[in-house]
Amino acid sequence: EYPLLFRSPLPIPPVLQPKLKMTNPVTGKEMWYYEMEIRPFTQQVYPTLRPARLVGYNGISPGPTIIVPRGTESVVRFVNNADKENSVHLHGSPSRAPFDGWADDLTFPGQYKDYYYPNNQAARFLWYHDHAIHITAENAYFGQAGAYLITDPAEDALGLPSGYGEFDIPLVLASKYYNQDGTLQTSVGEDQSLWGDIIHVNGQPWPFFNVQPRKYRLRFLNAAVSRNFALYFVRTTATNTRIPFQVIATDAGLTTHPVQTSDLYVSVAERYEIVFDFSAHAGQTIELKNFPQANGIGTDDDYEHTDKVMRFVVGNDPVNDDSTVPSSLRPPTAPLEINSPASTGIDHHFRFHRSNSEWRINDVGFADAKNRILAKVPRGKIEIWELENGSGGWTHPIHIHLVDFKVLERYGSESTRGVMPYESAGLKDVVWLGRHETVLVEAHYAPWSGVYMFHCHNLIHEDQDMMAAFNVTELAN
Ligand code: C2O
Ligand code: CU
Repeated sequence: EYPLLFRSPLPIPPVLQPKLKMTNPVTGKEMWYYEMEIRPFTQQVYPTLRPARLVGYNGISPGPTIIVPRGTESVVRFVNNADKENSVHLHGSPSRAPFDGWADDLTFPGQYKDYYYPNNQAARFLWYHDHAIHITAENAYFGQAGAYLITDPAEDALGLPSGYGEFDIPLVLASKYYNQDGTLQTSVGEDQSLWGDIIHVNGQPWPFFNVQPRKYRLRFLNAAVSRNFALYFVRTTATNTRIPFQVIATDAGLTTHPVQTSDLYVSVAERYEIVFDFSAHAGQTIELKNFPQANGIGTDDDYEHTDKVMRFVVGNDPVNDDSTVPSSLRPPTAPLEINSPASTGIDHHFRFHRSNSEWRINDVGFADAKNRILAKVPRGKIEIWELENGSGGWTHPIHIHLVDFKVLERYGSESTRGVMPYESAGLKDVVWLGRHETVLVEAHYAPWSGVYMFHCHNLIHEDQDMMAAFNVTELAN
C-alpha cells in the first residue's frame, strides 16, 4: 500500500557531542568544537519502495542536533565528502560574514571549512542548511538541513516542558516526491516550485508519536524546498473541531507572552514553537493537519495526502506534569524594543517579482554581481524595509540574514489577514509574502558590518536568482 500513513514512529535527530571543549584564547570564552561530515547514504524512507539515496550531515537527515548554552562559542568543521560543493549557513545566527554561508563561498568535495559561531543570542531554534549557489534546493532536498538550539538559564527558569526528545520535540517538516524505485524525484513544475506530495516529519513520511497526557513543547521548522504549511490539530474522532494551543516562540526565540491560536502558518524556513497540552485527550489520537493551499494564503499544489502531517497517540495513564506556561515569557527584545518603532519611514522598498522567466528582486538577480548589493546600511541603524510580492499569485517566504525583525504591517489588494498575533509577539528572520501581500519589517542592522544576503526561501526561487545582498557599513568616527 502506498502511501503508508501514521505507521512509523517519529524519529528524533540525535544530539551531536562536541569533540573538544576548550577556552577561546582570544575571547576567553568557553568554546566547543564539533565535526560533521557531509556524505551520501541510503535510507529505507518508504517501507514499500527501495531505499532512497540521500546526502546528509553525518549521513543522516535531518542532520544531528547541536545544543549549546548561550555564551559558549562553537566551531563546527564541515567536511565535504559528497560529490557536490557546499556552503553552510546557520540560519538565525548573526554570524560574521565569512562564516555566514555566502552562496559563492564554496567548499568542494574533499575539502573542509571551519565555521565559527558566537552563540550570543537568547535561547532560540536555529537551523543549519546548505546555501551553495544554484544548488541549495538540491542539497537541502537530498538532506542537508539540521537543528541547532541555543539554551539559556532565563528560559530554563520558566518551567516550560523540557528535555530534548522527551517533552521538548523538534518537528522538522519537509515535502518530497519519490519515483517508484524509491529515488527522490527532483523535477520542478511549471510553477517553479517543488511542492512534494509526501509530507515528512524529521525525515519520516507521516509518522506517529506516542505522548503522555501532559504538556509538550513542539518546535516546528519548515525545512521544505517550497511547501508552506497552515497547521492545525484535531482529534481523529472530531475532525471538525480545531484544538487550541499556545505559541511560545518564533524564529528569534521566546515571544513576550504565549499567544493562543488554533492554526499556524509556517512558511518555508520559519520556526514556531508551541506548547500543546495533551492532558485533556488521554486515550485519544490527535492528528496534525495542513490546510489545502495553506488556507488560501498560498498557491501550493496539493495532493491526496498533503493535508495530513502526523499523529500523536495519547496514553491513558495519568502522569504528573509540573511544567507550566508563564503568562510572561520575556521582556521585549533589546535593543530593538518590539513595542517602539524607531524608524520614521520606509528606508528601502524591495519588490520580489518574475520578469523574462527569471526570479528577481528590484530587477536584480544574485548572478548580477555588480548590482546585487541593493542596500547600504550604517551599522547600528534601525531601518524599515517594505517587502512587496510583485508576482501576484505566487508567494515568497523572505529571509534577511544577520538581523531579527519585527513584522509591523501586512497589506495588499487581496490580503485579509494582517499581521498574525503570534507573528508580532516576537522577532522573526523570515516573513511570508502571501498572494498579493506586502509586509513592513523593522530591524536593527547590527552587530557586525559586512555584506549579507537576503532572498526568497522557496529554494527553487532562490536558486533561480531571487537573492540579493545588503552591505552593513562601518560608522565613520
Ligand atoms: Cu535559511 Cu539564506 O537561508
Ligand atoms: Cu519566492
